[in-house]
Amino acid sequence: MSLKLKLIGYPIKHSLSPWIQSTFLERSGIEGSYTLHEIPSKEIFGEEMKKLREAEINGFNITVPYKETIIPYLDKIDITAERVGAVNTVSLEGNKWVGYNTDGIGYVQALRDKFPDMDKDIDVPIIILGAGGAARGIFHGLVQAGYKNLTLANRTRSKCEDITNGTSASVITLEEAEKNIAAYNVIIQTSSVGMNEAKQIIDLSNIQEGTIVSDIVYQPLVTQFLKQAGEKGGRIHYGHTMLLYQAQKAFEIWTNKKVDVHGMDEEMIAKIK
Ligand code: ATR
Repeated sequence: MSLKLKLIGYPIKHSLSPWIQSTFLERSGIEGSYTLHEIPSKEIFGEEMKKLREAEINGFNITVPYKETIIPYLDKIDITAERVGAVNTVSLEGNKWVGYNTDGIGYVQALRDKFPDMDKDIDVPIIILGAGGAARGIFHGLVQAGYKNLTLANRTRSKCEDITNGTSASVITLEEAEKNIAAYNVIIQTSSVGMNEAKQIIDLSNIQEGTIVSDIVYQPLVTQFLKQAGEKGGRIHYGHTMLLYQAQKAFEIWTNKKVDVHGMDEEMIAKIK
């Protein structure tokens, strides 16, 4: 049987997901397709979902602007998706649509694969800058992976509190984060600051050498934030890996196979540039 997979969202024409998932199908020797399904307006979302049910596809990814819209159309959602309040992967299980969120856990996996010292130390002090949807996903990805020493900093404090609610994570201001930045071994920048502009959310002059510094912005790939981190001896990590590893997790949900992403990272960089 050929696996039928899709990406739903709008606009998605330039998405790298079809290339990533087709490569996964090829690498795992599974016959199937991963095609785009654009839904240009929210008004027709319900109708499109009905059609999709009838089309009996095996699973799909769902992206902007429908990661929350999809929830009432699902039969079940897993605990991480529930905590994050957004779904990016749906799998047909029996005759039920089950929703997952692999964005955060994917990103955490990308970091752990690249930095084995982080992989081994669940007490490593980690700070997340920004408190939007991406921060929420990464925060819960870290919690699920067992990381215990988490801090959030954002311009609007209440958004951090909303995310950390019910956990032992700390909340600080961006000014405090900048002043005490040397206390963190892992810094994850999740805000939109730096996207298509040469700005950074906080100054990194005081980081310690060897600090892992990650920026989820990948347009440009090397943000000013990462440039400064590199100059200060930080070990830098690019944001495009979130896309690759969320896809790896999604594929694993659909097929029970974990594909080796070896080499795809570099190929993606070439495609983004
Ligand atoms: P996403 O869902 O992609 O994560 P988002 O929900 O729009 O995006 O979140 C954007 C993040 O960037 C927020 O944390 C936002 O801070 P506020 O919560 O205070 O709005 C942060 N952000 C955007 N512009 C900023 C700026 N100029 N300075 C500091 N933070 C900024």
